Amino acid sequence: MLGVLVRAALRPGVVRPRHLVRPVPQIPARSLVHQEGLPKLPVPPLKQTCERYLAMLEPIVSKEELEHTQGLVEEFLKGGVGERLQKRLERRGHKTENWLSEWWLQSAYLDSRMPLAVYTSPGVVLPRMHFHDRQGQMRFAAKLIAGVLEFKKMIDNNTLPVEYLGGKPLCMAQYYQILSSSRVPGPKKDTLVNHAIGKKPPTHITVVHNFQFFVLDVYNSDGSPLTVDQIYMQLEKIWNSSLQTNKEPIGILTSQHRNTWGKAYNNLIKDKTNKESVRSIQKSIFAVCLDAPMPSVSDELYHSRVAAQMLHGGGARWNSGNRWFDKTLQFIVGEDGTCGLVYEHAPSEGPPIVFLIDYVVNYMQKTEMVRAPMVPLAMPQKLRFNITPEVKRDIEKAKQNMNIMVHDLDVKVLSFSHFGKNVPKRHQMSPDAFVQMALQLAYFRMYKTCCSTYESASLRMFKYGRTDTIRTVTVDSLKFVQAMEDSAHKDTEKVALLQKAIQTHREYTNNAIHGQAIDRHLLGLKLQSIEDLTSMPEIFMDTSYAVALHYNLSTSQVSSKTDCVMCFGPAVPDGYGVCYNPMEEHINISITAFNSCEETHAAKFAQVVEDALLDMRALLEDTAKAKQ
Ligand code: COA
Repeated sequence: MLGVLVRAALRPGVVRPRHLVRPVPQIPARSLVHQEGLPKLPVPPLKQTCERYLAMLEPIVSKEELEHTQGLVEEFLKGGVGERLQKRLERRGHKTENWLSEWWLQSAYLDSRMPLAVYTSPGVVLPRMHFHDRQGQMRFAAKLIAGVLEFKKMIDNNTLPVEYLGGKPLCMAQYYQILSSSRVPGPKKDTLVNHAIGKKPPTHITVVHNFQFFVLDVYNSDGSPLTVDQIYMQLEKIWNSSLQTNKEPIGILTSQHRNTWGKAYNNLIKDKTNKESVRSIQKSIFAVCLDAPMPSVSDELYHSRVAAQMLHGGGARWNSGNRWFDKTLQFIVGEDGTCGLVYEHAPSEGPPIVFLIDYVVNYMQKTEMVRAPMVPLAMPQKLRFNITPEVKRDIEKAKQNMNIMVHDLDVKVLSFSHFGKNVPKRHQMSPDAFVQMALQLAYFRMYKTCCSTYESASLRMFKYGRTDTIRTVTVDSLKFVQAMEDSAHKDTEKVALLQKAIQTHREYTNNAIHGQAIDRHLLGLKLQSIEDLTSMPEIFMDTSYAVALHYNLSTSQVSSKTDCVMCFGPAVPDGYGVCYNPMEEHINISITAFNSCEETHAAKFAQVVEDALLDMRALLEDTAKAKQ
């Protein structure tokens, strides 16, 4: 998904302390065999990108704008600027392991100043649990922690199975960045630290309850992980020593605009105790947030409410202070049976996170708590914070801003139960392209126009690959949605247009995952120009480019075996964030928007998406029946 806007280029020559995440992540030796065999991300041919750029603009800009841009592109190609930048980019491609990954990490994430909560960090909604009592919640959390530690074993022993896409092995580097890591705020830009790399990797996790943070050592002195039973006992101790509900929600500071948090952070860690507490959270393997119950809602609204809780915690009164948003992985287990997670996006995309979830859920289903005689374990250490008047003022500001954010976020989780991947597959169509066309149809029905649309495509076929953009809106997708809204078209024509639109989408997807999409290439040319300190080429100052990057629909498929759904905020103030998990017989879809925008409405859009999916199925089935 997108979540953040690209802002500025890297300052060259920044010196990095050892524990900071490197442009090329450090992978344990055995995995290097597989990693080394991965191809390098190519720099696509310049002319191809320029042609595809103009084709992409056709359905989303006016005829006049397109003509103007054609002129600029011609100038870019013929005037020598494009060629010069292309050569520089190709040289960067030869010299580095991946010409894009460091630029992407910086420009898409670490330079972004928007808050992590809602704007950048995706949440995952897991199926509701029905805890009968607090012990149920603790047992669940204990098993979950044990499951993540079991997963960590595969990372530590280099036994993580290599993933494949379209028959090709994928880069596994992201898995090595999600544990023991944290984002660190800076007044102008952030950094990412990974403590798994150092000589003494951490052996503790962070547990937070009633806004109070604890260090929970999860390994015995012989290096073996604590058993589920042991973890459970430790969680009980944490719970019992954090019953007071009047504590300052220090964690809410991490939800602020990054400049604000960067300044507040420096202020906070002036105090030695605070600094040690913050370092302990940053170093921990992951965090577990034991959330207080939220106001109950109807079954219909339940998943939407949980999605909001994952994205922001529900507000200053509720669980927003029960987080450390900088922490890469935070699992959330609520007293009321709510469970899920929120993750900091800079080190990883969604698929490795849901792979971990699938593993942990499977582990939890298999594992029973075995009560065994236990050696008494030390009380988990409570992290102390000295709240100076300045820190208190920063917390109050963060609370206000969080409450504004909570009121502004509009979320709807649609559990589409009528069909899943099975229907498009039956009609020899890609389920992903089918859902994308339904989103297009829904948007067109609601707004009588199409919009710039982002879909994430994985670049993990390449070493240290992250994502590129699939441009769903094409001349073919537009023809299809127009035909659906025009009764003059026969059903057979509509089916033919749907098939064509889906085929075009599949071709784009195929190009994207093979490194031949246009967006990261254009970004690379732009960043190269900034790095070379040359004047910015006109094509990047053009209205069409701004329109192309204004993603009213920011979408992503994140599929999993577990019946869950990922969610993330919109990329623009007047847009939607849409994430979907197509399962075999149903589809989980999360939709977000901002209440401050009068034109968007998550629940209405969800309804129109549902209708679009049903209409597309009816179209295919009626047409097939008519042929018989
Ligand atoms: N007829 C019948 N079946 C078809 C078909 C057709 N024409 N086309 C595809 N299928 C099947 C596939 O074989 C596959 O089967 P499976 O369920 O047994 O695995 C299934 O339908 C899904 O294929 P499809 O819907 O085409 O999607 P995909 O799995 O190829 O995924 C992307 C497409 C773009 C989502 C994927 O390439 C990708 O890049 N994923 C990563 C996205 C990402 O990083 N998101 C996170 C950002 S934070």
